[in-house]
Amino acid sequence: MNNTSQVTITQRRSAGSRFGHLMSQWAVFFRGFLEHPKMVGSIIPSSRFTIAKMLAPVKWDECKLFVEYGPGVGTFCGPVLERLRHDGALIVIDTNPLFIDYLNRTITDSRFTAVLGSAENVEQIIRDNGHDHADYVLSGLPFSTLPEGVGPAIAKATYDVLRPGGAFLVYQFSAAARDFMAVHFARIEQGFELWNILPCQLFWGWKDEAA
Ligand SMILES: C[S@@+](CC[C@H](N)C(=O)[O-])C[C@H]1O[C@@H](n2cnc3c(N)ncnc32)[C@H](O)[C@@H]1O
Repeated sequence: MNNTSQVTITQRRSAGSRFGHLMSQWAVFFRGFLEHPKMVGSIIPSSRFTIAKMLAPVKWDECKLFVEYGPGVGTFCGPVLERLRHDGALIVIDTNPLFIDYLNRTITDSRFTAVLGSAENVEQIIRDNGHDHADYVLSGLPFSTLPEGVGPAIAKATYDVLRPGGAFLVYQFSAAARDFMAVHFARIEQGFELWNILPCQLFWGWKDEAA
C-alpha cells in the first residue's frame, strides 16, 4: 500500500462527495470561529496555495514525526498524510473539542492522532504518544490573539521539542509569530501567500544541526 492509498479521509473518497464534505468542513470551522473567535482567528480554512507553499521545504523522507498545532477541521492533515512516509506519524493538537471530535470522525489513517490540548504542552503530548522529538512542527495558531504569555511559551516548547535540523513552520495573517520565533530560532525564512483569505505570512524557523 502506498502513502496516498493509506489516506482514508472522507474528502478523498469520491469527487461527487468532495463538495458536500467541503461545505460541512467549512460549516464546522465557522461554528468554531463563532464560539471562540480569538482562538480560531479566521472564518475560513487555509487555501491549497498556502498549504503547498508552507509544506514545500519539508524533507519527507527524513520526517518520522510531524506535529500540527491548531489543525481546525484538518485542512493540512490530508496533504501532510499524502506526503508522510508509511512509518511516519502525524500528531495534531487543538484546544477546541469540536474540531478534535470532527477530525476523529473523518480521518481514519493509522498514522494520525488527534489530541485535545494546548500546543504549550507539546513535549508531554508527544512523549505520551511514544516519541522523544519532532522532525517538523506546523502552526496555524493565531499568535496575535492568543492569551498573554501563550505565544512565547509555545515558541520555546517547540524549539525544545524539535530535533536539530528540524523546523517550525508557521503561517499567520500578521507577523506577530516571527517575534516569538526569533527568540529561539536563529535562522527564519519568510514567505507570503496572496491566494488565501486573508493573504498570509509564512515563516520557516530552522533549528540548526549544531544546536
Ligand atoms: C486559524 S485556525 C487554523 C485552522 C487550520 N489549521 C487551517 O489552516 O485552516 C487556529 C486553530 O488554533 C486552535 N488553537 C488556538 N489556541 C490553541 C492552542 N493553544 N493550542 C492548540 N490549538 C490552539 C484553534 O482552536 C483553531 O483550530
